[in-house]
Amino acid sequence: MASFSHLPHATKRLEGKVALITGGARGLGECIARVFCEHGAKVVIADIRDQQGLAIQDSIGTQFLIYVHCDVTKETDVENAINLAISKFQKLDIIVNNAMLIDDAKPSILDNDVAEFEKVLRVNLTGPFLGIKHAARVMIPAKKGSIVNVGSVCSSIGGVATHAYTSSKHGLIGLTKNAAAELGKFGIRVNCLSPYFIANVAGKEFFKLDDEGCLNVYSNLKSVHLLEEDVAQAAIYLASDESKYISGHNLAVDGGFTTINPVFGVFSAS
Ligand SMILES: NC(=O)c1ccc[n+]([C@@H]2O[C@H](COP(=O)([O-])OP(=O)(O)OC[C@H]3O[C@@H](n4cnc5c(N)ncnc54)[C@H](O)[C@@H]3O)[C@@H](O)[C@H]2O)c1
Repeated sequence: MASFSHLPHATKRLEGKVALITGGARGLGECIARVFCEHGAKVVIADIRDQQGLAIQDSIGTQFLIYVHCDVTKETDVENAINLAISKFQKLDIIVNNAMLIDDAKPSILDNDVAEFEKVLRVNLTGPFLGIKHAARVMIPAKKGSIVNVGSVCSSIGGVATHAYTSSKHGLIGLTKNAAAELGKFGIRVNCLSPYFIANVAGKEFFKLDDEGCLNVYSNLKSVHLLEEDVAQAAIYLASDESKYISGHNLAVDGGFTTINPVFGVFSAS
């Protein structure tokens, strides 16, 4: 008879874990932080939105979650955030590189500004590089750890968002694979989590959609709408020991959007 005693506790899937979540002061990062706490993790949220970050800290309590001001493009800020996790909670098991910037959509590349392009790359790609580097600094001696980079459907297909954002999210897949290649020998897993459109503040703002417009966004899964909580559940999976043999993977949370061509073929929608 099979024994399931080795399986993680059914309700608290991150009991005893310590996680750092960048961009955790609002949106998906906040949701992941709250869900991680519900599942027993101690969490540090690192962001530049101090007021929102401190409000989350107050609502959850500093014994479970602390906020730190951290601009992910600044190495000393990232280093300090990791050090704070260690000094407050004694270790770091998980980092979720979630912070992001997106530039305004412009119809022509001729209108794209190089400084704007590089700014997006710095937050969305250099940020995770620094997060991985400083998490690895403390995970290597511990010989374990889970690194989760938040990508997007723009990590694998073109045409959904801006050149800068799409380039940064494709680059993140390369960084995920390379870091997984290097850090595997230390028992550290590195994965990417790639959601489809989420009707949160950032999603609505970028695509200029109201609530009704969000309901009409194309989905391969009819009448199913992706919520931040759905992505947070997938983040728990990649962060926890449940995915202990998964590394270098890009987990699409997109209802099949990036693998299915809806335009031409026997199952085409038209
Ligand atoms: N919203 C969507 O539809 C959607 C879809 C696919 C993927 N994603 C990804 O999900 C993640 C979270 O996005 P979101 O929708 O919650 O966006 P959001 O704008 O609500 O959250 C991003 C957070 O990153 C923070 N941030 C920005 N620059 C920073 C910096 N330099 N240093 C530290 N923090 C910084 C912001 O202050 C903000 O709190 C991102 O990686 C995004 O690419 C979002």
